[in-house]
Amino acid sequence: MSYQDVYERWKNDPEAFWMQAAEAIDWHTPPTKALSDKGDHLYEWFADAKVNTCWNAVDRHVEAGRGEQTAIIYDSPITHTKREISYVELRNRVATLAGALRAKGIEKGDRVIIYMPMVPEALEAMLACSRLGAIHSVVFGGFASNELAVRIDDAKPKAIIAASCGLEPGRVVHYKPLLDEAIDLAAHKPDFCVIFQREQEVAELKEGRDVNWHGFQYGVEPAECVPVEGNHPSYILYTSGTTGQPKGVIRHTAGQLVALNWTMKNIYNVDPGDVFWAASDVGWVVGHSYICYAPLIHGNTTIVFEGKPVGTPDAGTFWRVISEHNVKSFFTAPTAFRAVKREDPAGEYVAKYDTSCLKQVYLAGERADPDTIVWAQEQLKVPVIDHWWQTETGWSIAANPLGIEELPIKLGSPTVPMPGYDIEILDEGGHPVAAGELGAIAIKLPLPPGTLPTLWNAEDRFKSSYLSHFPGYYETGDAGMKDEDGYVYIMARTDDVINVAGHRLSTGGMEEVLAGHPDVAECAVIGVTDQLKGQMPIGFLCLNAGSNRPHDEVTKEVVGLVRSKIGPVAAFKLALVVDRLPKTRSGKILRGTMVSIADGTEWKMPATIDDPTILDEITEALRTIGYASA
Ligand code: COA
Ligand code: AMP
Repeated sequence: MSYQDVYERWKNDPEAFWMQAAEAIDWHTPPTKALSDKGDHLYEWFADAKVNTCWNAVDRHVEAGRGEQTAIIYDSPITHTKREISYVELRNRVATLAGALRAKGIEKGDRVIIYMPMVPEALEAMLACSRLGAIHSVVFGGFASNELAVRIDDAKPKAIIAASCGLEPGRVVHYKPLLDEAIDLAAHKPDFCVIFQREQEVAELKEGRDVNWHGFQYGVEPAECVPVEGNHPSYILYTSGTTGQPKGVIRHTAGQLVALNWTMKNIYNVDPGDVFWAASDVGWVVGHSYICYAPLIHGNTTIVFEGKPVGTPDAGTFWRVISEHNVKSFFTAPTAFRAVKREDPAGEYVAKYDTSCLKQVYLAGERADPDTIVWAQEQLKVPVIDHWWQTETGWSIAANPLGIEELPIKLGSPTVPMPGYDIEILDEGGHPVAAGELGAIAIKLPLPPGTLPTLWNAEDRFKSSYLSHFPGYYETGDAGMKDEDGYVYIMARTDDVINVAGHRLSTGGMEEVLAGHPDVAECAVIGVTDQLKGQMPIGFLCLNAGSNRPHDEVTKEVVGLVRSKIGPVAAFKLALVVDRLPKTRSGKILRGTMVSIADGTEWKMPATIDDPTILDEITEALRTIGYASA
C-alpha cells in the first residue's frame, strides 16, 4: 500500500483504522469502540478498554519467549559504562520496584515525580509507575529547583523518585540538593522520596522522608500489572507555554499504546528485535515516546545514552554507538548534527566506524535546516528524515513514513501529514488558505490516539490555549504552509515559545524572572537565530528611573537569576540595558521587529509603531554584542 492509500483508508473511516491498529496491543478488556465524543470538542480514545502499559512494554515480550532479547542498552561515555538489560531482567527489576512503591502506599492514580538523568533506572521508574497505574511526571535535569517546585505543586505527587546526581561534561549536577530545595519551596510535600545513589555522588538522605532505591526494594513482593481504563492518564509532562506556569500535557494509556506501536513500523521502519536509538533525554517528550515507551511496546531494543554529540569524548560518539550496538533507526535533533558537523565537517569521524547497520535517520524538535540534512545524507548515505511534532501530540504530525513508502524528500519540509492528522493552514479569520500561502497550522478535531486529551487539572486552559481560536480545530502554535503536493512547511511559532538546542522554552517565563529583579522596570526577551542552537534568548532591560547601578552588574545578575530560577537549559547568557522598548501605540512590545533587526533580516517599519527612533537605539545596542550586523 502506498502512503496515499493508507492516508485515505484512515480518512474514510478513522475509527476502523485505529481499531485495526489496536489489534497489535494486548488488552485486559478490548475496546468496544475507538472514539468517545465528550462534547465541547473534547474526545477520548478506547475509553472503555482495560489495559496496562508495562504489560505491553515488558511482560508480554517475556511471555512470548523473547525474554532474553536485550530491552535496554545503557551507553554512557560520561561514566565509561556500558550495560545491557534483557526483557526478563527488566520485567523482574520493574516488578520489584513497583512492589516497593506499592508497599509504601503508591496506587493507581497517584502521581509520582521522576527527576533522573539518562540512566536505565529512569525508564524502570517510569515503567514501575505504569505497572501500578500511577501517573508519572518526569522533570528534566536541566531545570532549577524552582521549576521542579512548580511541577510538585501542580502534580501533587505522593512520591518523588530521584537520582543523587546527573553528569554534564565537566560538571556534576547535584540533583539531591536541588530536590531538597524544591520540596522546601513547594507548598505540597511528597510522602516519601526514593533516591538512586550514583557512585559519582552519594547524597545525604533525610531521615523519615528519603529511602534508598536499593534498600527499599529489599524483600518486597513483586507487583503484578494493574489494568487501567483506556482513558486513564499514563503520565503528565510539563511543557512551556506563554507564561512561566508550564502546561501539564496528559497522555491517556490506550491511545499512547496504539499510536506509538503503529509508528514504529510505519514511520521508523523497524521490526521487533531491531535496535532503535533516540538520542534525547527522558525529560522531554521524545524521551517518553521514543526512548522509553514506543521501542519497548514494539519489542525493540532501546538505547539510553548518557553523553553529548560532541566532547564525550569526540564528534564520533554517535557513529561509535550506532556501529557498536547495531542501530537501525536513529533519531536526534538538528542541533546535535550541527554540533557534530562544526567539529567534523569532512566526516573524518564517520569514516572511522562501520555504520552500515544504519538504515535511516530522523530529525525533530526544531526546524531542520537544509545544510544539516544534506551534510548528514552525504556522510551517512541513508535517508535523513525531518519530521514535525510537539509535546502535545506525543508522535509525529507530519513525517516521511519509510515503513509504508519512501516519499521524495523536499528540503525544508517534514513531508506529509500522518494518518490521524488533517492539517489545514488557516488565516486569521480561520479560513483555509491556498497552497503556498502562509498561515496558522491547525489540525481538524478530533486529534488521533496518543495525543493530549486535555491538560492536567486545567481543562479551561486547554480549551483557551488550543481549541478556542479556531473552533473545530486544534491550534498547533506553529505557522507555515502546504505546497501543491500537500507537503507541510513549518516556519515559525505564533506565540512566545522559542526553541533553543531543540529545547522548548518560554520567553514569557524568562520575562517574568527578569521583571522580578529589583532594578528592572520593564523587559522583553526575544529568540534570535543561532548557528548552533537554532535560537538563543536575548533579554532587553529598562531600569527603574532611580537605578544608578552599573549596567553590566545588572545584566550579570539577571543572567544568574534565570539560571537559578529556570535552569541552565534556558541558555540565557545575553542581556542588554536599553532606555526604552519599541512598542505599538497600544503598548504592545514589537518583539518580532526586534528579532528581525537582531538577525539582520529584512523588516518593515510597523505602521502602528509609537516612536520609530527607538529601533535605532535597539539596533545600536544589539551591535555592541555582535548582532544586527546586516
Ligand atoms: N541536566 C543538567 N543540565 C543540563 C542538562 C541536564 N540534563 N542538559 C543540558 N544542561 C545544561 C548544559 O550543561 C548547559 O549548561 P552550561 O550553561 O553550564 O553550559 C545548558 O544546560 C545548556 O544546554 P544545551 O543548550 O543543551 O547545550 P549543551 O552545551 O549542553 O549542548 C549541544 C550543546 C550542541 C551538544 C546541544 O545542542 C545538544 O545536542 N543538545 C541536545 C539536543 C536534544 O537532544 N534535544 C532534545 C529534543 S529532541
Ligand atoms: P516540543 O514540544 O518541545 O517537542 O516542541 C515542539 C515545537 O518544536 C513545535 O511546535 C515546533 O515549533 C518545533 N518543531 C518540532 N519539530 C519540528 C520540525 N521538524 N520542524 C520545525 N519545527 C519543529
